[in-house]
Amino acid sequence: MALFNILKKEDSTPPQPSDRPVPQHIAVIMDGNGRWAKKRGLPRTAGHKVGAETFRTIATYCKNIGVKYFTVYAFSTENWKRPEEEVSTLMNLFRRYLKEAIDTMAKDEIAVQVIGDLSVLAPDIRELVARCNAEAQKRPEFSVATLCINYGGRDEIKNAVRAIAQEVQAGQLKPEDITEDTISQHLYTAHMPDPDFIIRPSGEIRTSNFLLWQSAYAEYYFTDVLWPDFKPADMDAAIDEFNRRNRRFGGV
Ligand code: FPP
Repeated sequence: MALFNILKKEDSTPPQPSDRPVPQHIAVIMDGNGRWAKKRGLPRTAGHKVGAETFRTIATYCKNIGVKYFTVYAFSTENWKRPEEEVSTLMNLFRRYLKEAIDTMAKDEIAVQVIGDLSVLAPDIRELVARCNAEAQKRPEFSVATLCINYGGRDEIKNAVRAIAQEVQAGQLKPEDITEDTISQHLYTAHMPDPDFIIRPSGEIRTSNFLLWQSAYAEYYFTDVLWPDFKPADMDAAIDEFNRRNRRFGGV
């Protein structure tokens, strides 16, 4: 009941678009769910449930203000170490959300896709992911919301290196022809631009294996706000800070 009341209250503020320039690709490490729940005497899983609602709100807000790509770290390759109940709650949240996204994608005008090492996910989740990704591919004109599930930056680079090595072994590629772009094209994000802006809520100041290759020139933004408390106004504040930064990409 407490959780329901909190959600009801938070849902009462509809996101309002603004007219500020926005990054093309924003990525978020959705951190602080456990602490949010602990502060309220709730189980950690309650934090993830509210965090999933925050994801819906912020993904919609990003689409409304013109962000083409919104990417979130939903489950890392290391998160399997968490208690079984927490892992299964997260998997159920993914199930529920993917089912919903398949049906509402056209209406919401957000192409929802999942990336990561999906081979170890439960077969029904893999099936939902396949349907969701197939649906998303039919909608190139939509904004894209990407869930990184069983994602690890090092794991992704290792898989890319393996795939490239296999092409070299098969005589399809010469080692001297391997470029940075070859590597980018073998990552899960091959079809997306690199993130311009990476946001980490909850006061933690580290990258935690998220989009390691792709973040080479990203601007980072850290805030103490816990992810379940993150509002469209927090996104506006982050984007204002992004717009104040002077991105030089190694130039002067
Ligand atoms: C890190 O916070 C968060 C996660 C490991 C999971 C994030 C997943 C969600 C918010 C659910 C997403 C669901 C959908 C449908 C998109 P933490 O639990 O480590 O927080 P703590 O550092 O405060 O303990």
